[in-house]
Amino acid sequence: MCGIVGFIGSTNVKKTLLDGLKELEYRGYDSAGMAVMQSSKIDSFKAVGKLANLVAKTAPFEPKGFAVGIAHTRWATHGKPTEINAHPHQGRHSYIVHNGIIENYLPIKEELTKQGVGFLSQTDTEVIVHLYESFLTREQDAYRAFEQTIEAIEGAYAILLIDEGVQNTIFFAKKGSPLQIGDGDRGRFFASSDAPLIGICDNAIYLEDGSWGWATAETLSLFVGKTPMTAQKKPLPISQSSAQKEGFRFFMEKEIYEQSKVMSETLMSRVMASGVRLDELPEGFFDGVESLRLCACGTSYHAALAATYLFERLSRIEARAEIASEFHYRDPMLRNNELFIVISQSGETADTLEALKMAKRSGLKTLAICNVDNSSIVREADAALLTRAGIEKGVASTKAFATQTMVLWLLALFIAQKRGALDEEQMTAETNAARRSVKTLMVQPDRHEQIKRLSKRYLHGHGFFFIGRDLFYPLALEGALKLKEISYMHAEGYPAGEMKHGPIALADSKLFTIALMPHTLLREKMRSNVEELIARDTTLLAITSEHFAFADDVLQMDERSHPMLEFFEMMVAIQLLALEIAIRLGNDVDMPRNLAKSVTVE
Ligand code: F6R
Repeated sequence: MCGIVGFIGSTNVKKTLLDGLKELEYRGYDSAGMAVMQSSKIDSFKAVGKLANLVAKTAPFEPKGFAVGIAHTRWATHGKPTEINAHPHQGRHSYIVHNGIIENYLPIKEELTKQGVGFLSQTDTEVIVHLYESFLTREQDAYRAFEQTIEAIEGAYAILLIDEGVQNTIFFAKKGSPLQIGDGDRGRFFASSDAPLIGICDNAIYLEDGSWGWATAETLSLFVGKTPMTAQKKPLPISQSSAQKEGFRFFMEKEIYEQSKVMSETLMSRVMASGVRLDELPEGFFDGVESLRLCACGTSYHAALAATYLFERLSRIEARAEIASEFHYRDPMLRNNELFIVISQSGETADTLEALKMAKRSGLKTLAICNVDNSSIVREADAALLTRAGIEKGVASTKAFATQTMVLWLLALFIAQKRGALDEEQMTAETNAARRSVKTLMVQPDRHEQIKRLSKRYLHGHGFFFIGRDLFYPLALEGALKLKEISYMHAEGYPAGEMKHGPIALADSKLFTIALMPHTLLREKMRSNVEELIARDTTLLAITSEHFAFADDVLQMDERSHPMLEFFEMMVAIQLLALEIAIRLGNDVDMPRNLAKSVTVE
């Protein structure tokens, strides 16, 4: 989704901005732009499509010496992905980049139009720059005009603004969308996530909601409302090496292969011989907790849903999963003794963040399961468990899902421990299985080859059903989501037992069904559901460790000892299947159309 970079410094200003945008590219965007101020002159450039187009446009431009720059990648919300709608947006003498959505932009636009202001774009962002200039005309004080602008706008934003009349300065504001400021050897940097800052700054200031101010190379004025604040710095991760493709065709492929390695990190110092330790959780965190409510979006929601089966079966605690965008606006009934758990790879998903804030306002204790330390969700929650998957660049989430599911499984065991829900033998079996998952997640080259070959038979149907029961139903949802995200083919995840209640009407030889048939859970029931579909001539791919002669194709699995190990082995298979189908279709697997890695708008 939209990305912001800013820089105040003397060397390589253009390259610094472009490099920063490159680091944000994986998040998804459809246009990009930059504005650079030297003394009191601003040059601005915009291009639709890939960053290479902006690189080409800015080729003749080379700022010399000290300059101030702001840059942006845009993922269209208000208005099509055109050059006019790309950021920076400009007034008569100032330029702005913005992430988020200005909810009251229409009344502001109407008011400014009455004042004679002309608008070029269809965006909500453009109102901010004109509003600033309108206040400036009245106040004759840029700092006061910026403050009034921030007071007048509603919604979510991270903003950088430069003005030809205020040399060497970047104005900034943050509410609901992330924004960081870092100081490096070469100058002062701004970014909407850590990625552009890693390697060039050691620390960053993570601006709190409601922060605004202005910065030069030497000074930083920071406020929340009218109160001056002292900036608090936090260390940044030191290396970006994990974010290179390392010979794989796509980041997604690399990240599927990485799952085994990162899972060792996820497990490290958390799994003991016969129990689980979660030292990040404060003493007594679960005191008084009688039920769990899990809330997330997309793939993270699928991890949440899978976890409800684990919590109820292993910890004997009531658990319910919610889609964040639905939960937030339906005036839900909440109980004081519920623990509210949010799950998010990025830690910046607006729907999840808003749900978390609402749960906090209602007085619930909150826990974040997240991949990004210092993210908004981690900072907002009462406690956090990091998934330790490393930077995930492929838009289609893989290793984040695997590690989220593992952390939730460990949490289920931890709660089971507290509640005495499992005996020692059962707990030892669980922790042994958790450790063995590292091996289960390794991609077997032969199996990958088989999936590559198989993928060519699954290109031209009228749709896919991924079916499973119990834990394997959320996995079926995840398989369908992976496939539709990167292949653009219609796919649905369904509880296998529900097919006969309607969807079986679609069954014919051009309907592809991917059946997740574990050995350890509801084996016979699942078999009957699958046979009902075969009887209707659906084309069936069985993913199973069972002997199953009736399928058109079988991906033979090895695991038969524990449902979660079967879950992880099948998860790798469906990830690879989606990958290979998408590659055969010639799609850009890492940056699928219309999608963004971090969805920071509601
Ligand atoms: C799918 C995918 C999305 C995200 C969803 C939530 O592959 O990645 O469905 O899972 O947008 O994002 P996070 O986990 O960052 O909150």
